[in-house]
Amino acid sequence: LTGLTQAKTLVGRRVLLTAGPTFEPIDPVRGITNLSSGKMGYALARACRDAGAEVTLISGPTALPRPAEVHFIAAGSALSMHAAVMEAVPHHDVFIAVAAVADYRVANASAEKLKKTPGQAPTLTLTENPDILASVAALPRAPFCVGFAAESHNLLAHAQAKRERKRVPLLVANLAQHAMGADDNEIVLLDDHGQHPLPRMDKTGAARAIVAHLAGMLPIR
Ligand code: CTP
Ligand code: CA
Repeated sequence: LTGLTQAKTLVGRRVLLTAGPTFEPIDPVRGITNLSSGKMGYALARACRDAGAEVTLISGPTALPRPAEVHFIAAGSALSMHAAVMEAVPHHDVFIAVAAVADYRVANASAEKLKKTPGQAPTLTLTENPDILASVAALPRAPFCVGFAAESHNLLAHAQAKRERKRVPLLVANLAQHAMGADDNEIVLLDDHGQHPLPRMDKTGAARAIVAHLAGMLPIR
């Protein structure tokens, strides 16, 4: 498909996406984060835009250029990404959660830089972050929700359980060790009808295939 004009399957739809990792501070100069280049989420934002959607991208820190003609909101921590999503979501009809959100943040983060004391490693206490996708899917007027699952093993079993737990109509599953940082991806789409494996392709092609599938699932307006 690359190089061809994309079918305008999302004209009149407003799509909100999260992408990239989150960064959970330990102190002003340190933090914990997840491995995520943001490439898949940014490719999906561009594919939604090219399909005619109005797109809002809420992104954690990445090294990628901002996609043109996409409303862009930068987020750092999971809490700030959650707040930005909850504020934006009422204005959107589709939510695609691609971000690798940190499951935990540091409860005892320090406002001042921690000084190294030889022989005394600090102990970090972790506390659970909100599940952004599950919170959106549980809203009374939830948009059409798409989730991602990057698993290191038992891909389809974990992904199927995740789809049911988060109550999302469409879940995109991929093997973490294939996808992380790479330019291509091999994905399986999970919906009410079962599993739809897609051939290995670059992330632009994968994004277009996801858009085509999700556009076909949206309620006709
Ligand atoms: N997600 C989210 N907010 C979180 C955690 C995850 O929005 N706090 C979203 C991700 O963007 C992705 C989906 O939920 O679309 C699945 O994320 P994943 O980390 O694979 O699932 P978890 O439920 O966190 O389970 P685990 O990390 O144990 O596999
Ligand atoms: Ca997780």
